[in-house]
Formats: sequence, C-alpha cells, structure tokens
Amino acid sequence: MNILVAGGAGYIGSHTVIELIKAGHDVVIVDNLSNSSMIAVKRTEQITGKQIPFYEADIRDREKMETIFSAHKFDCCIHFAGLKAVGESVALPWEYYDNNINGTLVLLDVLRKNGCKNIIFSSSATVYGTPAIVPITEECPKGQCTNPYGQTKSMLEQIMTDMYHADNEWNMVFLRYFNPIGAHSSGIIGESPNGIPNNLMPYITQVAVGKLKELGVFGNDYDTPDGTGVRDYIHVVDLADGHVKALKVIENKGGLAVYNLGTGQGCSVLELVKAFEEANGVKIPYVIKPRRAGDVASCYSDPSKAERELGWKAKYGILDMCRDSWRWQKNNPRGFEE
Ligand code: NAD
Ligand code: UD1
Repeated sequence: MNILVAGGAGYIGSHTVIELIKAGHDVVIVDNLSNSSMIAVKRTEQITGKQIPFYEADIRDREKMETIFSAHKFDCCIHFAGLKAVGESVALPWEYYDNNINGTLVLLDVLRKNGCKNIIFSSSATVYGTPAIVPITEECPKGQCTNPYGQTKSMLEQIMTDMYHADNEWNMVFLRYFNPIGAHSSGIIGESPNGIPNNLMPYITQVAVGKLKELGVFGNDYDTPDGTGVRDYIHVVDLADGHVKALKVIENKGGLAVYNLGTGQGCSVLELVKAFEEANGVKIPYVIKPRRAGDVASCYSDPSKAERELGWKAKYGILDMCRDSWRWQKNNPRGFEE
C-alpha cells in the first residue's frame, strides 16, 4: 500500500515507518517537526536503507496538504500527528484543541476529497478514564478524561465515528495504546522528550544516564500489590507492528474497528524500576512522593481482540523494553539534540 504517515518523524511514527517498509509498503511522511527532528527521519532511512519522501508541513495547512496529495496517491493514512503532553494540555487547552482537533478535521477533509477514505488513528487508553473494569476490553465504556489531551482523543474518536456513520465508504481503525516504551534495537532512534520527562521510562533512563538525580515514585498507597501504580507497558516495536496488522481492516474494507494495543500484563512502578536495574546493571535511586493528580491505580489491557482479529500479539517483555530504552538513552544522552 501507499501510506501517508502523519507525524511519522515522532517516537511511535518513526518506529512504525520502519515496520511498514519492512512489510513492503511505500511510505510518505508529513510532520511539522514541532516535537521531533529531521535526524529521526534520516536515521529511519539509515535503518531501512530507503529514501523516504518527507514533507515538513502542518496538517492544519490545507494548501500544503493538497500539494502533497497532488504529488502522491494514497491508499491509507496512519495518523500520529498530535500534541501529547498531559500537563501542557492543561496549561494550553486552546493550542491542544486547535492542533489535535482542527488538525485532524483538515486531514480528514483532505483525505476524503482526494478519495482516500482509509485511516488508522492513534488513540489512547486515556479514553477509558478511570477504567470501569481491569483488564480493560474494548467494550469497557469510555470514561471522563481529566485533561484536554485526553479529551481530544475521546472527541476525535466520536467525530470520526459520526463521519463513518454518515459515510460507510470510510474504513477507520482506532488503536488505543497503553504505555509505549522501548526503542529500536539499533539504538539510533527512540523517545526524545523536551525538558524534564513526565513519563516514567524516560525519567528512569535520565536518572540512569546521570541527567536527573533520583526518580520520584508518585504514591505507594494505591490498592495494588506493592502500592505503586500499575500500567501496561508495551514495546514500541510491538506497537508499530500493530499498525501493520491493522492494515488488514483497511484491506478487507472492515468499516470501523477499535483495538487495544497492550501486552495484557500489569507492571507496577517499583517492578519497572527493578526490571530496569536487572536488565541493565544500573542502580535507579528513588524516593516516594505524593500521588500525582489524575493518576489511576491500575490500567492494563485485555488485548485478545487484536490477537483474534488481526493476528497481533506483543512479543517483547519488560526486560527487553528496559534494555532497549537504555541502549537508546546511553548512546544518545541528549536524544536527537545535536
Ligand atoms: P510524538 O510527539 O513523538 O509524535 C507526534 C508527531 O506529530 C511529532 O513528530 C510532531 O512533530 C508531529 N505533529 C504534531 N502536531 C502536528 C501537526 N499539527 N502537523 C504535523 N505534524 C504534527 O508522539 P508519539 O509518542 O510518537 O505519539 C504519536 C501519537 O500517539 C500521538 O497522537 C499521541 O497522542 C498518541 N499516543 C501516544 C502515547 C505515548 O505514550 N507516546 C500514548 C497514547 C497515544
Ligand atoms: C500518561 C498520561 C496518559 C498518556 C500516557 C502516555 C497522565 C495522567 N496520563 O499515562 O494520558 O496517554 O502518559 O503518554 O499523565 N510515575 C512515577 N514517577 C514519574 C512518572 C510516572 O511514579 O516520574 C508513575 C505514575 O504515577 C504512573 C506510572 O508511573 O503510575 C506511569 O506514568 P506515565 O509514564 O506518566 O504514564 P501514565 O500516567 O500511565
């Protein structure tokens, strides 16, 4: 297939581009580089041995998007382009709604006007809010999102669902990611957050590399086996492969489909710290801090629908994720910064 990857220079996008090319697809990337770097694109080319057409453009820029569509014919769009920092979204709600909602509306319109009614959308486990049941199945009702970032994912799922009901020619796949970590085994691409990381794994790797002094563990009094928060960490390469497998829905004209992408295994903060130390022989000093507002005790998936319908299952375990996250951080202590 000829695939437009919006946000393909980013963390999950770059790993997905590799898996798509490996599976024999042709890829064009559009990204405004607001949270990524051309270096990531160059390294993706290095890994795949392919030149990847790249357009530096904002998906809100209809004119530029039309230019891309006049140069290529696409069978499908995989849509990663969005802002994703929870705390920042609370401080900058307008910017988040404009970028994520408006950006997706323009993208969807340009897609349909150019006869490409096929999209795979990056959603998030955040749409479940405080989950009504764990492990979370796709039948679990969507919950109340506590921040504008989460709201944009939930609203976009709704907007696209309404568009699908109005026009059944669309094929749409919503992939609800759990917690992606890890990096490509080459160690030359990975997650490169700006400033002090909010998420657990990049914080751990920055402590390991000596950039940060110690990890703060947000709460040890949750109703979980060791009192710390439980999440479903998934290797980014497994997640990337989930997108390749999701193309089946598009090929089979499967209409609207929703899948959880997770391992199904819950892992606590302290278990992840221990696994990181074991996998890499590095000590991670930590202190217990108060709970972080908005956090839930436990959030992990039942990923069996994706296995049943797409033949997708996560292959990598926690130790692999820890090893690969560390290889990337150790080799690139400043991420993609030159
Ligand atoms: P990322 O920031 O690394 O990648 C997003 C990419 O989109 C970046 O390269 C950025 O420059 C680009 N972008 C943003 N706004 C754009 C715009 N208006 N026009 C063009 N390009 C734009 O993030 P990621 O971790 O790779 O996440 C990819 C997608 O998956 C996002 O939509 C995110 O919300 C979603 N998601 C991520 C996680 C996670 O933990 N990383 C979890 C659930 C969902
Ligand atoms: C967060 C977002 C979620 C987003 C996801 C991926 C919140 C409330 N949720 O999920 O919307 O989709 O990132 O980007 O921000 N932790 C620590 N110390 C730290 C950092 C985290 O103890 O320095 C703990 C957290 O309390 C949590 C676990 O580690 O129990 C994972 O946190 P994090 O990596 O931020 O992911 P989520 O909160 O699951």
